Amino acid sequence: MSAAEPIIEHNHDVVVVGAGGAGLRATLGMAAQGLDTACVTKVFPTRSHTVAAQGGIAAALGNMDEDDWRWHAYDTIKGSDWLGDQDAIAHMCEAAPAAIRELEHYGVPFSRTGGGRIYQRPLGGHSTRFGEGRANRACAAADRTGHAILHTLYQQSLKHQAEFYIEFFAIDLIMDDSGACRGVIALELATGRVHRFRARVTVLATGGYGRAYFSCTSAHTCTGDGAGMVLRAGLPLQDMEFVQFHPTGIYGSGCLITEGVRGEGGYLTNADGERFMERYAPNAKDLASRDVVSRAMTIEIREGRGVGAEGDHIHLHLAHLGAEVINERLPGIVETARIFAGIDVTRAPIPVLPTVHYNMGGIPTNRHGEVVAPDHGDPEAVVPGLMAIGEAACVSVHGANRLGSNSLLDLIVFGRAAARRAAVILGEAGADRGRLPTSASEPALERLDRLRNARGDIPTARLRARMQRDMQDYAAVFRTGETLDEGRRRIDALLDGFADVSVSDRGLVWNTDLVETLELENLLGCAATTVHAAAERTESRGAHAREDYPDRDDTQWLHHSLNWLDGGTAVRLGRRPVRMNTDHPELETVPPVARVY
Ligand code: FUM
Repeated sequence: MSAAEPIIEHNHDVVVVGAGGAGLRATLGMAAQGLDTACVTKVFPTRSHTVAAQGGIAAALGNMDEDDWRWHAYDTIKGSDWLGDQDAIAHMCEAAPAAIRELEHYGVPFSRTGGGRIYQRPLGGHSTRFGEGRANRACAAADRTGHAILHTLYQQSLKHQAEFYIEFFAIDLIMDDSGACRGVIALELATGRVHRFRARVTVLATGGYGRAYFSCTSAHTCTGDGAGMVLRAGLPLQDMEFVQFHPTGIYGSGCLITEGVRGEGGYLTNADGERFMERYAPNAKDLASRDVVSRAMTIEIREGRGVGAEGDHIHLHLAHLGAEVINERLPGIVETARIFAGIDVTRAPIPVLPTVHYNMGGIPTNRHGEVVAPDHGDPEAVVPGLMAIGEAACVSVHGANRLGSNSLLDLIVFGRAAARRAAVILGEAGADRGRLPTSASEPALERLDRLRNARGDIPTARLRARMQRDMQDYAAVFRTGETLDEGRRRIDALLDGFADVSVSDRGLVWNTDLVETLELENLLGCAATTVHAAAERTESRGAHAREDYPDRDDTQWLHHSLNWLDGGTAVRLGRRPVRMNTDHPELETVPPVARVY
């Protein structure tokens, strides 16, 4: 942007930032209710990271065997290691069957049983009868479930005349003096022009921040953009210490090999050819929850039982399933394994390694998708005009560890809930907050200008590579006070180092140097809150495994962490209670017990 370049103005009822599953479900829901809805997205909608989701979307439909939403809720609470908010979990699991039928009616091409029902497969941590049997609960479109859902939602959004601003990068929220959100500032990537989107409701659906790590299953676009905007607005994130490692990323590239492989009967072995999960999770075995499997694999490798020349990975077998089953149910991973591991899965095992996959932490919300900022005593205080959904948000239905196939469900259920809530907010007297002073956009414009002209000594790519290595090494599957302290020290130094970043492209058109720098600032905020919150939490819970504090400590730590970034460099931590009441007549609170599979 040159100083003389005018800002392009837009006015909408609602602006949704992000066009993955959550963003599109919200956009569709808002537009269908007649709200003037804009969806601002960094990538073309069908390239959003939801497209990579493979194994399925959970719902107790009971198409294969008996199932019940209360068993699903129980599994989710247990999977979360009791950090999930039980009212939000009960709501999500009860709403799931209707949400799936709605997707089916929208046109999602689910795989079918012989009788024509939606096909469902088992994924990790899903049981029947409160932990007794194994549930077939993940509704699947082969192993391309996210792809099928994303395309359908985009078509439905277009049908309802939602307006899309594609390849627009939202860089900052517009906040007014009362603390309400009034829209976003975005950069049009093709031209470098700056756009101001004023809206009465702004919904962040910007996904996770897997790219803070060196090896992850996340797309390169998963850079915590919503989280970064929230931190710069002086609002907190929640539970950032909880980072999920998926057990089966391809060794080397990190590409996802779906848990659906193990759901269909695949299994893991070590260098002795042993199916070692039988030792770690005698009942669920290879289908224990992800944190349990990732830790077991890491221990096998550490204790010298890894496979390969370096003994540094594990084998995933599926050849015994036969080519027919593989090609019908898992066609995507056949291709992925061939391209990224050079493996024909009908003949040889896939080399795999736990790889960063999902962020349980994010922007704290209530179950309507409204952002909460519990800074002044009220843990449920809502930020007017601001919502967050999907992986960007922390509702919290996943707590300390997410179950496979609950992410797609979270996107759909809470995308829908946000659309409904937005219609209510917009109907309320006082939703119109009056004139927006142009000064409200100044911090965003100054930041953009500063970074466009950054002439420091450290190129963005070098800082980013250091951050990714440090996160990989110091905020890993297993953590100790020592590694986390070192991680804090290193990431804090990188945050300070960002003031010395250099951007060499001064152009307007497709300035990827600038975009990557803006993204890096978002990632650094996420990385810093992650290591600080992890160092502070002196217990092991879900995906946060402290070797120096191996037990869960409900007396000290049964609460959410809150994570601010004061002045852009100093992490400040707080607490928020976990909502233990299901708020539902058909499901009592599930009290914390030892978590075994
Ligand atoms: O393994 C998978 O297919 C991933 C599913 C999920 O993360 O929900």
